[in-house]
Amino acid sequence: MISRMQFMALALLGLASASPNILDSLRGQTITAVLGGLDLTAEAACACKLLLNSYSDMILFPTSANYTAETKLFWDIRSDLSPACIFQPDKADEVADGIKILSGCDAQFAVRGGGHMNYPGSNNIDGGVLITLNKLNSYKVENDTIDVGPGMTWYDVYAALDPHGRIAIGGRLKTIGVPGLTLIGGVHYFINKYGFAMDNVVSYDIVLGNGTQVTANDTTNQDLFWALKGGANNFGLVTKFTLKTYSIPLISTTIQTFNESGIYDLVKATCDLASLDDADPIAAGSIITIQYNATTKAASGSILGVQEGISNPPSQFANFSAIPGPIKLNNVTTLKQWGSDKVTPNQMFRVMFSHKTIVPDADRLYSIYQAWRAAVDQIADVQGLYPTFVMNTVAAGAARVGQTNGIGNVWGLKVEPTIWWQFSTGWDLAQDDLRVTAWSRQLTEHLHGINRKLGLARDHIYMGDAGEWQDPFASFPEANVERMRAIRSAYDPSGTFSRLNWGGFKLGF
Ligand SMILES: Cc1cc2nc3c(=O)[nH]c(=O)nc-3n(C[C@H](O)[C@H](O)[C@H](O)COP(=O)(O)OP(=O)(O)OC[C@H]3O[C@@H](n4cnc5c(N)ncnc54)[C@H](O)[C@@H]3O)c2cc1C
Ligand SMILES: *[C@@H]1O[C@H](CO)[C@@H](O)[C@H](O)[C@H]1NC(C)=O
Ligand SMILES: *[C@@H]1O[C@H](CO)[C@@H](O)[C@H](O)[C@H]1NC(C)=O
Ligand SMILES: *[C@@H]1O[C@H](CO)[C@@H](O)[C@H](O)[C@H]1NC(C)=O
Ligand SMILES: *[C@@H]1O[C@H](CO)[C@@H](O)[C@H](O)[C@H]1NC(C)=O
Ligand SMILES: *[C@@H]1O[C@H](CO)[C@@H](O)[C@H](O)[C@H]1NC(C)=O
Ligand SMILES: *[C@@H]1O[C@H](CO)[C@@H](O)[C@H](O)[C@H]1NC(C)=O
Ligand SMILES: *[C@@H]1O[C@H](CO)[C@@H](O)[C@H](O)[C@H]1NC(C)=O
Ligand SMILES: *[C@@H]1O[C@H](CO)[C@@H](O)[C@H](O)[C@H]1NC(C)=O
Repeated sequence: MISRMQFMALALLGLASASPNILDSLRGQTITAVLGGLDLTAEAACACKLLLNSYSDMILFPTSANYTAETKLFWDIRSDLSPACIFQPDKADEVADGIKILSGCDAQFAVRGGGHMNYPGSNNIDGGVLITLNKLNSYKVENDTIDVGPGMTWYDVYAALDPHGRIAIGGRLKTIGVPGLTLIGGVHYFINKYGFAMDNVVSYDIVLGNGTQVTANDTTNQDLFWALKGGANNFGLVTKFTLKTYSIPLISTTIQTFNESGIYDLVKATCDLASLDDADPIAAGSIITIQYNATTKAASGSILGVQEGISNPPSQFANFSAIPGPIKLNNVTTLKQWGSDKVTPNQMFRVMFSHKTIVPDADRLYSIYQAWRAAVDQIADVQGLYPTFVMNTVAAGAARVGQTNGIGNVWGLKVEPTIWWQFSTGWDLAQDDLRVTAWSRQLTEHLHGINRKLGLARDHIYMGDAGEWQDPFASFPEANVERMRAIRSAYDPSGTFSRLNWGGFKLGF
């Protein structure tokens, strides 16, 4: 008996041998019957077939064991979808050829780097082609830069640089992917001194919508170079990032937890940290979270703080260290060692992010925390509820880099301290998706509305912290959005990365 896999391959071959006119007549239709129950368009069938012809060892269909494993390499369970086939190139030339095939077939596709964007459809697709970048993981360490493949995680990058006593500006946790984070901006511990990950990219190798490979840097394709600094997946598929590196052989770290009685002071210290500004700053930043358990009604806070150099305890976290709390662990270590256990496992839960920006104001942020806590009680019955309130400090120095490095980025942030506050809400069941989304959105918009009236709100939305109901591009300066649209028209006139690769935060019309 022929296997389902063989059946599918035969069906694809049959389809491809049909005349172009027949293919045209099938365009847009779902030819479920032909392909054994798989929801597959003629365009996707065309692309999967041609990819199978050229790269039979790099293409997976739903019947292969590796397909199932690949479709679970997403952080948020909501991102698990069912692509028609998965293309796993290991060279930029193969990516370029793949994009040619996809645009030639007019097939919809998604691209996955580290798989952490928790926006269903941003990094995966039902019935289309999924391109995974895992295998593009080669790197090259130069004197003060590193060439990085888009299949790498940030831990891979820190590990590659560790023997040289150098670091790059990337993700704060181990398993976040290089490409997604770098294309949307990139918040590292050290943004206050070195700017965002995007500000530290000196060159991009990118495959355009027609399959042409170009380099974008400060002298070649300068406009595209600028647009890639925060413009996300709107311009092409990046096959190599060249990142600046810095000599920072050792870092000073702190892990602290706080019980409920310390939360106001935690919020206050967070505002202090965001407000630090110096002509020659000490690079320091953190991950600050508050957890609330709607069953036990207990709240607790934590900070993971990292500072360049060996001052121990790290001086920039003095106001946190002064707050009594159960855990105070300081260490002097390397960024690689620090990252080695900061794993964010795939498939932990379904997750909704919601985020807004505020200037540092401890009393107002504490009120937001209290309102959030009360609102969590209203959805306490949601199975597997995992609510977290996150505060990301963005010191004036982080914005200053983009304003003064001669290149800039698409954000055009004002040079002032802000705090990017976020509700990250996990849960178990698909039946609660809409409820949690509505809850999170309404709460966030309500609180932001109050911040606005108080003159404390800022518009900027960070794609890495936002929910899919948010439109980060609408928060960027209008002139920058117009300029990005013009650049998109020049480099991707047929809309491969807007019409066919439609998931994620898109520039829109
Ligand atoms: C647990 C967790 C921790 C996080 N921590 C941080 C943090 O410390 N700092 C921070 O700034 N952000 C952080 N984020 C947000 C994170 O930066 C984004 O989710 C980012 O998109 C992840 O990149 P990725 O490659 O893993 O994602 P993916 O989901 O693989 O990709 C994200 C988007 O980029 C597109 N894309 C991927 N590769 C390419 C490419 N080569 N060319 C063109 N487009 C591409 C994808 O199609 C998708 O739309 C965190 C997120 C999570 C879930
Ligand atoms: C499946 O995955 C295994 C382990 O990663 C790998 O060795 C093998 O080559 C893969 N097979 C295909 C068809 O991709
Ligand atoms: C790297 O540094 C070495 C030693 O200082 C120098 O000889 C070499 O030219 C440098 N290479 C580049 C690419 O800058
Ligand atoms: C930019 O890229 C081009 C093409 O690869 C290269 O010739 C040029 O030297 C690069 N410029 C810089 C500043 O790196
Ligand atoms: C600690 O708090 C004080 C008072 O708010 C502030 O002046 C100082 O800058 C803070 N120090 C640090 C390192 O955050
Ligand atoms: C909270 O922490 C403080 C300081 O460590 C401690 O005195 C207090 O007992 C703690 N309260 C609870 C409920 O754990
Ligand atoms: C402290 O740093 C050292 C040196 O990197 C490391 O070996 C050790 O595991 C670290 N301790 C903790 C508790 O992380
Ligand atoms: C809340 O507490 C309950 C009871 O101890 C526990 O089962 C649950 O896992 C906790 N939830 C979170 C999100 O920590
Ligand atoms: C591909 O697109 C780019 C940008 O529009 C264009 O410059 C280039 O000529 C195109 N290449 C081909 C082969 O059409």
